[in-house]
Amino acid sequence: MQRLAFSSSSRCVRSSTNVFCARAVQSRQIQYRAGGSRLPPLVFTFDIDGVLLRGPHTIPAARRALDMLNGANPMGVKIPFILLTNGGGTHEEVRKHKLSSQLGVQIHSNQIVQAHTILKSVAHKYADKPVLVLGGLNDVVRKVAESYGFKQAYTTLDVLAWKPEAWPFHELTPEERASTKPVDFSTTPISAIFVFHDPRNWSLDMQITLDVIRSGGIIGGPYLDTPKPADQQPLPQHERAHSQGAPSQHRQVAPKGEKPPIEVVFCNPDLLWKSDFPQPRLGQGAFRMAFQTVYEALVGTPYPHVTQYGKPTAATYKFAEKVLRDRLEELAGGRVEEMPRVYMVGDNPESDIAGANAAGWPSVLVKTGVYEEARGPPTHTPTYIAEDVEEAVRWAIDREMKQK
Ligand code: G3P
Ligand code: MG
Repeated sequence: MQRLAFSSSSRCVRSSTNVFCARAVQSRQIQYRAGGSRLPPLVFTFDIDGVLLRGPHTIPAARRALDMLNGANPMGVKIPFILLTNGGGTHEEVRKHKLSSQLGVQIHSNQIVQAHTILKSVAHKYADKPVLVLGGLNDVVRKVAESYGFKQAYTTLDVLAWKPEAWPFHELTPEERASTKPVDFSTTPISAIFVFHDPRNWSLDMQITLDVIRSGGIIGGPYLDTPKPADQQPLPQHERAHSQGAPSQHRQVAPKGEKPPIEVVFCNPDLLWKSDFPQPRLGQGAFRMAFQTVYEALVGTPYPHVTQYGKPTAATYKFAEKVLRDRLEELAGGRVEEMPRVYMVGDNPESDIAGANAAGWPSVLVKTGVYEEARGPPTHTPTYIAEDVEEAVRWAIDREMKQK
């Protein structure tokens, strides 16, 4: 794609295929007046890992793409955007600083939707109830949870500090111990479990999660479910094919008036994600799968009281659309009657493209992350496949200008 060029006098823009004159652009923008100012006909939602970043490294095309949104485009206007990631593990206020330096543009916290940001909208339900928060380093996600409104958020490291025998295969490091809160879990019933970010210690987090849900919240308390007798333990996956139909005969239901079962809330369904390692890495979705496999082996059926957030869930795209509208209204200084078209740019067909397609957003799949062309067509069909985020932005702007 030839780099677009501006001709200063006539404000006409020449691309390899078209010549656009400002006049045409302006008439298009009028449709999106909000408050005192104009909005461009399109806005963007960018995935982070595999689109803008690879692990700690910035993908070069990312800075060029953001330059274009900053005004270096044939419309001659700033094009708003937000970041929508299944990543997380730190507070949005902290993440904005890191992202701003990595991307070379100022990113505001209300431009960032991480996997757990949506929990701001459910924290009120658990504000005064003890909950277990999983993922991230030490007690970072506890602090994030508290900032969202969870007043009694505990970590599995707190459990180990309380009873090291709860998981004999991990000894707290001095740093971990320093992050713990003293609490007696025998008198602190956990009401729900929130997996904010990828667990750093799968086995510890798995054990404590199972303890909480099987004992109705009292860690170390008696299990309320009747485990499947040993001789009826379900066969391992690879053997099960031969014995399909083995009836699962156990479910945890709360008898009338009794405490509701423990909800387990996952924030990121990604099985794989792309970091700076040559091959994709296991994501939080892999932890969920492992948890369900072990739970089913113990109890005979998958754990039913699970909520899933994160891309591609409708809840997360709806939440992101609200964040985007708030951002536009802030920029425009007034109510946005009609949203400009939202373009989603992502590297993962399962999360970015599937979710955008379901939300009715045009979607662009880039080749800088999870999706590998050599492995065949993507599992979810995007509106367009681009080499990288720069081509994605250029294509979308071009498309909008053609639709004038
Ligand atoms: O842990 C993060 C990973 O699952 C994907 O992040 O930015 O590609 O949605 P992202
Ligand atoms: Mg990604």
